[in-house]
Amino acid sequence: MSDLIQLGGVNERPKAPRPEDLRLKFSETAVAELDALLGHYPDKKSCILPGLWIAQREYGGYLSGNAIAEVAHRLERSYAEVEGVATFYSMYNTAHEVGTHMIEVCTCLSCQVCGVYPLAEYLKKKLGVDFGETTPDGMFTLHEVECLNACDRAPLIQVGDQYHGPVDEAYLDNLLETLKSQPSSVVQMADEIVQVHLANFEKPGAEKTPAKTAKPRTSRIKVDTPN
Ligand code: FES
Repeated sequence: MSDLIQLGGVNERPKAPRPEDLRLKFSETAVAELDALLGHYPDKKSCILPGLWIAQREYGGYLSGNAIAEVAHRLERSYAEVEGVATFYSMYNTAHEVGTHMIEVCTCLSCQVCGVYPLAEYLKKKLGVDFGETTPDGMFTLHEVECLNACDRAPLIQVGDQYHGPVDEAYLDNLLETLKSQPSSVVQMADEIVQVHLANFEKPGAEKTPAKTAKPRTSRIKVDTPN
């Protein structure tokens, strides 16, 4: 067990660096994206969530104390405020570094009924880890999650932004082999979420001139005006 990478407990929090130890690691692209996103909001505080997605991508899928401090620094917010947001949402990885791929296994009712527990045991045995652990090669982190809201596909697992279900042992064998040769689905999902926030002309490498603004639509709702 000692050679496994253990995830922190649910209450474990990232460690804030001392101000003099803060290292700014955002790439030029990330800085440009954050600048563009700031233009979407009335103030810097409102940009914390997309800023954290940029950080999760830039820091390889894990929001370390330094990553959170960098977002706080760039948005001129306190570390405590940004950390409070990052640790509130389970899609931000703050407890510990995660593997290249995070396999999230739904063990809620429909998936239970459809046989997820034997499959979870199969995964644990095959990977040699329990829920909340990462394989020694850093490839896979196994997570137990609540209902993924696709019960018609039970038993269901999620990897990155993809749902897989209904799965069986043969499907899981095949999926694990396929994932080994693929880039980090954790980082890829963070990047996809960043790109969703950006307008096309704000994306890296895009023509910088915004497309012609569409004419404002006329409301079809008839509004009675007082005489
Ligand atoms: S119970 Fe598993 S997706 Fe809903």
